[in-house]
Amino acid sequence: MSGLPERVLVTGADGAIGRATTESLVRLGVKVTAFSLTFEHESPADRVIAGDARDEAAVSRTLDDVDAVVHLAAIPHPSLGTPATVYGTNVVATFTVLAQAGERGVRRAVVASSVNAFGVPMNSHGVEPAYFPIDEEITADIEDAYSLSKNSDEATARMAWRRWGIDVVSLRFPLTKDRRTLMRMAADIEREPASMAREGWAYLDLRDGVRAIERALTAPLTGPHVVGLSADDLLIDRPAAELLREYAPGVPVRAPIGEYGPLIDTTRARDLLGFEPLYSIHRPDPVGDPLELGTVNG
Ligand SMILES: NC(=O)c1ccc[n+]([C@@H]2O[C@H](COP(=O)([O-])OP(=O)(O)OC[C@H]3O[C@@H](n4cnc5c(N)ncnc54)[C@H](O)[C@@H]3O)[C@@H](O)[C@H]2O)c1
Repeated sequence: MSGLPERVLVTGADGAIGRATTESLVRLGVKVTAFSLTFEHESPADRVIAGDARDEAAVSRTLDDVDAVVHLAAIPHPSLGTPATVYGTNVVATFTVLAQAGERGVRRAVVASSVNAFGVPMNSHGVEPAYFPIDEEITADIEDAYSLSKNSDEATARMAWRRWGIDVVSLRFPLTKDRRTLMRMAADIEREPASMAREGWAYLDLRDGVRAIERALTAPLTGPHVVGLSADDLLIDRPAAELLREYAPGVPVRAPIGEYGPLIDTTRARDLLGFEPLYSIHRPDPVGDPLELGTVNG
């Protein structure tokens, strides 16, 4: 891929998306500074630094020679801490990483947001999306600290652009896992489809997650951008219209949808990033798969 930065800081580099991203970037000849609270897996990065992304001095030490940042470090679910811990950790980490990068003159950052940034999928009050397909402008209705942290991170990205002129792509990842895990989860969701209706049964193969991050690092853009992502079909192998009729009958469908989805509007991913998903759990992997990542498949 042309135009990749020479050195990239990956935060949360010991996590699932972080390991796959590090491995792919290293393969593409990019130098990676891997940063994470702890490292339980061996990293192929040439610089591996353990530390807290909320710690200004620690983050500053990771930024030597860095041209772009992929910020993935976060507590990735509201159940993994008290609301104050989840919210505080995630927003302070994102602020600190973008502020330090901005101060050091870094020009591009990719931040892991989430399909949950609009709050509805994790909201226990029975609210539904205002419409399908879910796009980046959909009205938010947030009840939990994780979703709020992702929504706030997108505001932090806008501030960082204004203050430091750093281009930030906030990627709204849906459920993003390796193929085998997705297939296992799909079998569970088939038995209880209602549990994923409010996120439109959206998923993304981890390898497509990495491809989207790489696109976001290289796309010719300026400013802060929020970009929704999805595979080109649904986690459940059933026609989208049938699922909507059964599990979201009152929600308007505002734009044409394919027979098997997706129910996330991926126009911006395509137009802004040139990103099209390659992988589906309902199709065999492409022959000559360009992203046979050990961490992803192992
Ligand atoms: N995987 C998904 O389904 C999914 C979906 C939507 C959004 N996301 C977002 O993508 C990002 C990566 O997700 P993942 O699935 O790889 O999660 P993960 O839990 O596997 O990885 C998170 C990493 O961040 C690190 N970390 C946590 N707090 C930190 C801190 N204060 N300082 C430094 N490092 C810290 C952890 O040690 C871990 O290595 C997260 O921001 C998550 O919210 C993931």
